[in-house]
Amino acid sequence: MTDHERLILDRQLDPATRQADARRELRAALERDPREIPSKYFYDDAGSELFERITELPEYYLTRVETAMLRDLAPGLIERTGACELLELGSGYSIKTELLLDAICARHPHARYLAIDVAESALRAAAARLLPRYPELRMHGIVADFTRPLVGVPEGEARLFAFLGSTIGNFAQPAATELLRSIADAMQPQDRFLLGVDLFKDLITMEDAYNDAEGITAEFNRNILRVVNEHLQCWFEPENFDHVAFYDDLNCWIEMRLRTRHSVMLRIFAFDDERPYILDLTRGEEIRTEISCKYTRAQVEAMLRAAGLEPLEWHVAANDFFGLALARRLPPDAASTDR
Ligand code: AVJ
Repeated sequence: MTDHERLILDRQLDPATRQADARRELRAALERDPREIPSKYFYDDAGSELFERITELPEYYLTRVETAMLRDLAPGLIERTGACELLELGSGYSIKTELLLDAICARHPHARYLAIDVAESALRAAAARLLPRYPELRMHGIVADFTRPLVGVPEGEARLFAFLGSTIGNFAQPAATELLRSIADAMQPQDRFLLGVDLFKDLITMEDAYNDAEGITAEFNRNILRVVNEHLQCWFEPENFDHVAFYDDLNCWIEMRLRTRHSVMLRIFAFDDERPYILDLTRGEEIRTEISCKYTRAQVEAMLRAAGLEPLEWHVAANDFFGLALARRLPPDAASTDR
């Protein structure tokens, strides 16, 4: 089979519908109090690249620590779970995927890799890298927003669902549990779920990871305004916003915001109203762009159980910086009973 024949790419929504959905979602978020831009809009091509640079920063320990954990754990995890298929949510183009696929393909060369991501370019880049590396692997990419119920996921047996990088941390409750539940609903009893979570630790380490000395995170944060400009055909000027990131002690999350340096009056023509929509921001006003929850083991396991998933294994990095939870789907009737 040629590389081309080993790749299936599905788009769950046509571009026009996606565009209309994005406009509706952005408008609602910008009108919220506090104003928001959903984090998934970070990841256009430039944003995905900036995120890759973040993962290499000395302050941003998450990716480095999780990758080192998977290097050690992947072979054993694959052996114990018997997984012959990998289904990854928010896959991006990461080395972590290769660590899992190395372990799976060593046992099952004809394995299948199912990747779900909002960014089609990331899926294509992953295919271009992975298909030559694993000569018998088949890849099925689905361009989809995994915050919507998972539909169109092909059946498989003994699949490992992976949701890594602490991306779950971008969701507050109850959205986080709902997202995990939609994953649980897509799982068969013999499937397993691997969840990567960033753990609560000292304030300086947590805050520095989002305030790097080089300013790459600030650039990543501001880039979201370019993505919004594309969708709404408006003219946010990223250089008129300051990057703000701090730990919120009450919510146990890092919050990123963009703070205006001047007052901003923006006309938005894309909402198809009769007149342009006017967005008024006073000087110093902030737009929230991301939350990134920091967990304890007890919180993670409670969240898994609430979503109908039973924790099976818990692994932490030597420095307790990062956690990996392995879980399976609870039988439907057991989901409600406390255990
Ligand atoms: C990919 C969502 C896990 O929250 O740490 C990195 C994104 N934001 N630096 C995170 C991010 C700022 C990252 N996640």
